[in-house]
Amino acid sequence: MSIPSNSFFERKREWSRRKHDVLSGYLPQFTRILGQYHGRIYAVDGFAGRGYYGEDEERESGSPLLFAEIAAKLENYQLRCINVEVVRKEFENLQIATAPYLSHIDNRFGSFDRNVESILRDIGQSPTFFFLDPFGLKGLEWETMSKVGNRYKGFKTELLINFNAPKFDRDAGWLDSRYERKRDSFLRRLDKVMGPSSNWRGIFDKDSSREERYREIATPYKSGLENEFGFIASIFPIRTVEDGSLKYYLIHAARHPLGRRIIGHIFYGVHQQYLRARAILLQQGGVQLGLDGIAVPKLSIEQMEEEDLKLLVQDVLGALLERGPMHFGELQDYLADKWVGRMVEKHYRSACNQLRTRGVVSWSGTTLKEDTLLQPLPIR
Ligand SMILES: C[S@@+](CC[C@H](N)C(=O)[O-])C[C@H]1O[C@@H](n2cnc3c(N)ncnc32)[C@H](O)[C@@H]1O
Repeated sequence: MSIPSNSFFERKREWSRRKHDVLSGYLPQFTRILGQYHGRIYAVDGFAGRGYYGEDEERESGSPLLFAEIAAKLENYQLRCINVEVVRKEFENLQIATAPYLSHIDNRFGSFDRNVESILRDIGQSPTFFFLDPFGLKGLEWETMSKVGNRYKGFKTELLINFNAPKFDRDAGWLDSRYERKRDSFLRRLDKVMGPSSNWRGIFDKDSSREERYREIATPYKSGLENEFGFIASIFPIRTVEDGSLKYYLIHAARHPLGRRIIGHIFYGVHQQYLRARAILLQQGGVQLGLDGIAVPKLSIEQMEEEDLKLLVQDVLGALLERGPMHFGELQDYLADKWVGRMVEKHYRSACNQLRTRGVVSWSGTTLKEDTLLQPLPIR
């Protein structure tokens, strides 16, 4: 199997660190919240890898070890981790690396697709968090996703998917190729990822920038998760610090808006770290011209946030004028698609307070709670 796993696991890249920060931030919250009402909680690492990066004193935990460490730390909860790995050598490494955590771990050899049905049987009704982190897109075929997505809706199921839009974009470059056999095989693979109802080829008929295309590629995948399986999904970009280029999107899918609210806070924290890392590199003169629009920031992180807040104020007012009275919680859910990872509850609070001071929005009481009803007032 020609997978560049050796070089991948040689050392943890800075962007992988942010992916792991999302996991380390989210999984304990998922476990604590659902663990109060359900006995056992599962974390399924469907593309687990060998468990670590680097060697000897440079060694750092990969996702299955991070999960195991979380499970061991949350001793009042029963978090059980199922790891799947398809490459024999990596599986053997994984077995050794996770051996100290035997009571929390269940390692399974083979592809995620081959294992998913038995995993679904074994987890039964327990709340389960699936982390799907392949190299590229292979392994994320819609048929595989359907097996998870069609799990009975009453059982708590959440997903965090590494969706590699740049890889999709590169492979879709075969659309114009004259080499029919190769082209057809690439395009068939992309069809399998996007699923039967997707018309992804239309994205490549337009004259969009690369960044716009990446987003347009991820959007139908996200919509598929929402429309076909009833998830509420959010997209968060993982970029390089050096030039801001997109490595992949993390797509989170939950069935409850609270899941999106919590991952939104985690994404926000990770995004702040990213901006700080870029700001430091900029000071050192190491930042290259980037693709993300924040590559060579003219504003400080605080100023950028202020600018975003101004836009959020407009969006909050626009939403209330368009939709009429809305609860504070509902408002955050309504605007989440656009703002997830950049604006969190404190910003919505601040936006509402500004609008109240301007006399264009009102509510009764002083503090804003989840179920506080926001009323738009006629603008004089
Ligand atoms: C990106 S690495 C995983 C990194 C790991 N999740 C982490 O964050 O430390 C992807 C891993 O999935 C394995 N893999 C590839 N295809 C797979 C499949 N269909 N099922 C299960 N594992 C697969 C690869 O061998 C590789 O070890």
